Amino acid sequence: MTNSVGKSLPHDAAPGHVTGQALFIDDFPAMAGELHVGFVGSPVASGEITEIDVQAALQIPGVVGCYTAADVSGHNVFGLIVADDPFLADGEVLYVGQPVVVIAAETPEALAEARRVVKIECHARTPILTIEHAIRENRYLGPVRRIARGKVAENLATAPHRLQGTFNSGGQEQFYLESQAAIAYPGEQGQLVVHSSTQNPTEIQAVVAEVLGLGLHQVVCICKRMGGAFGGKESQAAIPAIMAALVAQKTGRSARVIYNKDDDMRVTGKRHEYLTRWEVGFNDAGQVLAVRYEFFSNGGATTDLSPSVMERTLLHADNCYYFSNAEFTGKVCFTNLPPNTAFRGFGGPQGMAVTENVLESIAEYLGIDALEVRQANVYGVDSRNVTPYGQVVDKNHLTEIFTKLAASSSYKSRRAEIDDFNAKSRLQVRGLALTGIKFGISFTTKFLNQGNALVNVYTDGTVQVSTGATEMGQGVNVKIRQLVADEFAIDPHCVLVMATSTEKNNNTSPTAASASTDLNGAAAVIACQEIKARLRNFAAEHLADSESGLVASPEHICFEDGQVYDDRQPRVRVGFGQLCDDARRERVDLGARGFFATPGIDFNRETGRGTPFFYFTQGAAVAEVVIDRFTGEMRVLRTDLLIDIGNSINPGIDRGQIIGGFIQGMGWVTNECLVYNERGELLSHSPTTYKIPAITDIPQVFNVDLFPNDDNTHNVASSKAVGEPPLMMALAVWAAAKNALSYVNGEAEIDLKLPATGEELLRVMTVLSQKPLPAPVS
Ligand code: MTE
Ligand code: HPA
Ligand code: MOS
Repeated sequence: MTNSVGKSLPHDAAPGHVTGQALFIDDFPAMAGELHVGFVGSPVASGEITEIDVQAALQIPGVVGCYTAADVSGHNVFGLIVADDPFLADGEVLYVGQPVVVIAAETPEALAEARRVVKIECHARTPILTIEHAIRENRYLGPVRRIARGKVAENLATAPHRLQGTFNSGGQEQFYLESQAAIAYPGEQGQLVVHSSTQNPTEIQAVVAEVLGLGLHQVVCICKRMGGAFGGKESQAAIPAIMAALVAQKTGRSARVIYNKDDDMRVTGKRHEYLTRWEVGFNDAGQVLAVRYEFFSNGGATTDLSPSVMERTLLHADNCYYFSNAEFTGKVCFTNLPPNTAFRGFGGPQGMAVTENVLESIAEYLGIDALEVRQANVYGVDSRNVTPYGQVVDKNHLTEIFTKLAASSSYKSRRAEIDDFNAKSRLQVRGLALTGIKFGISFTTKFLNQGNALVNVYTDGTVQVSTGATEMGQGVNVKIRQLVADEFAIDPHCVLVMATSTEKNNNTSPTAASASTDLNGAAAVIACQEIKARLRNFAAEHLADSESGLVASPEHICFEDGQVYDDRQPRVRVGFGQLCDDARRERVDLGARGFFATPGIDFNRETGRGTPFFYFTQGAAVAEVVIDRFTGEMRVLRTDLLIDIGNSINPGIDRGQIIGGFIQGMGWVTNECLVYNERGELLSHSPTTYKIPAITDIPQVFNVDLFPNDDNTHNVASSKAVGEPPLMMALAVWAAAKNALSYVNGEAEIDLKLPATGEELLRVMTVLSQKPLPAPVS
């Protein structure tokens, strides 16, 4: 058995996760003399620091040191896109809880006491907290971005029908179970080893070096695994890692930083809240003739990844639909909140939500089923298949996916049942929707589309693989293990994927954009092929020698079932391990480094045109909801998902990603609500006040199917990325809620925000029962 690709091998750490043997950062035993490190943050959202008093803290027994921006030996400011992220606030404070003072102590108790007595005085200013406020004050992070084609104004003016509105989507907390965490160990020659719960070890290496004034070669960052990340550790593992590293540098002792959940939720960035002004022109069939969207995101106080997130919004505003005339613009608003950052979908969900809302509005206005509107607009195969930014939607299966899913979910007959139910029920109202996804795979920042891998083959035929990919629960390790095992035709148990370390893999990209198997898996395969080529040459000689008359010929060497043979005499076989041992004795190199760079992608930010994506992951979802007409409480009765992830490398793992991503998306569109007070303090900063989906929220009927498709041949093992796309399938749940509301008052426009919480649904139903007027634009 050597074909492990395509099989549902369990997650590498499945037993470890349930037995506790899989260690997370805070499980590491303490080094002798290790210090506990924490911080005190800004008491205000905006202002100037007038006084920092750490005297009382330093008096506490066990407190070893207090450090401020003044103690930083390198640069206090860093950033992936713009260097405007302070490590510790220096003079100005930008959001509540922004780290100002780092404290190192012998015990957690001393640390906690010290945190209570550090005094930070500020001259407070009125903070900017909302998108509207930032727009009024003209406060933006970076320039306006734009993607457009066709004649938008003309076609809006001449369209038979026009609608416009404002759409709001809320932020979302990543809610990884392992909070931000790091341990730093000091070494010789100014070296530091930093264990970080990060998606981006190379970035941790870089910011630690930058802030501490070290060379990159002096810093090693290691990440064995994360207890979830969801984008929240792409850039924002940095500050806690630097805290640990700073203390290790200052004291020569190892240092541990573990955020508690409340602090983590208060001071780290989240999914961007968006406000979008939209305008659409369409015909009687619901076909869109022109759209204009003006996106505004709540960026928070520093740039972080916000411009890239906005870029992905603009690149996904079309979602699955061909818009011949479209103009999308985007601005990132500055606010006095923690810098918002990556979160599964990376701006895609916010863009796609706007279009799904618009299509629902068109259907309501025309009094036709929204599925008809979607089918009238879906991307075509040979025509109507070019995105507004000029990329051809190649090998497009959307029409088939829509048709197949509508049939398998009995969309039409359930629509009739719902019409019937809603006509009779005075207590509840039901809704149904089918929405699609088309998610572009590749980092939109071109240079990040690279991966490298180190493959070490040992003399017993076992293999260690190291890549830049980090394991956050998504199963990248087991997939890479399968790919490598199949290259050598050995049992996957003979392959181990090792901890991610900048010492083994340099200049890596974050594990993000759903592309880590594509990039790192491909690099690992390339490394294997190099080793195999050497083994093939060696085996050719080796087998030729042992059998008379056979001329050595590497092309005839086959790897199969843990054995190697010449196909001209297939009965003579040598075990893979034996061959490796023999090869080493003949001084054959059994290690290799593979490098992969995604070919054929390019995107010009200035013109908003190009081919940013290697391919698209596509799919569709049907959701049915029931809403209590008196309380607004909503339940999801049934969902049917159909997704094209190509030839799945591991269908079991991928189903987990699909189900998990969808439920996480359901949280975003229905329940999760970030509440701030007027001082900019997050009120919903714990599991008791921030409602992520619970087991009871899972749809009663939950069907998940993979769309069979083996045509993504240019990607590793003809697979497709799966990590983020399923989250956006949850837009079906939001659309179903909006659809349900159309039964409350068929005449009025429905202005439903996202998330459709119980309160929001009740608000809209109240408005609808009072307002009969349709409001088309003249
Ligand atoms: N799955 C788990 N269990 N935990 C996570 O943190 N992050 C998601 C997704 N699935 C995440 C997850 C995000 S945001 C991304 S970009 C991808 O995994 C990254 O991993 P991949 O490239 O291997 O898909
Ligand atoms: N997705 C996720 N993370 C990223 C991207 C992206 O497109 N670009 C930069 N970081
Ligand atoms: Mo995922 S948001 O690209 O880390």
